[in-house]
Amino acid sequence: MSEFKGEGTLLEQMEALVGDWEGSIERRYCHLANAAALLWQHLERVNWVGFYVRIPGREHLVLGPFQGKVACTDIAFSRGVCGKSATTKESVLVDDVHQFAGHIACDGASLSELVVPILDGEGNLVALLDMDSPYRKRFSPEDQRMGEAVASLLGARLWS
Ligand code: SME
Repeated sequence: MSEFKGEGTLLEQMEALVGDWEGSIERRYCHLANAAALLWQHLERVNWVGFYVRIPGREHLVLGPFQGKVACTDIAFSRGVCGKSATTKESVLVDDVHQFAGHIACDGASLSELVVPILDGEGNLVALLDMDSPYRKRFSPEDQRMGEAVASLLGARLWS
């Protein structure tokens, strides 16, 4: 069962948060910051929630707005769970990060992880939503679908 506290409510709140983007990079980051905070408030048993944003034209991600401990700033597409999601443009659910070769341990407490790609209107990878938990198997397929819905909303609203 999903541990999001009310899917409709979360998506509705997310829609309201990003409803007035006027096209500036500054406000995109403003909305991503609130989006990270909103997810952090809604999710239980997580220790990191946030975004990695692609450097345009490069296969490289940099740290974006997040909640949780200090994290690594740079992730190449060739590395980690984030790299796999960026390369495949598919969400990646990892029940046990110790079983994932190449996992990047920003917070040693993280045991499971869900990474969801954010695509622009043309289907290009522009950012990732990354959620980590200090519990094994924290994220369900329902959480994955919710993460994908959030990512889809953010991509459509902030990168189109
Ligand atoms: N977990 C990611 C690295 C980022 S941190 O978890 C915040 C990975 O292995 O790609």
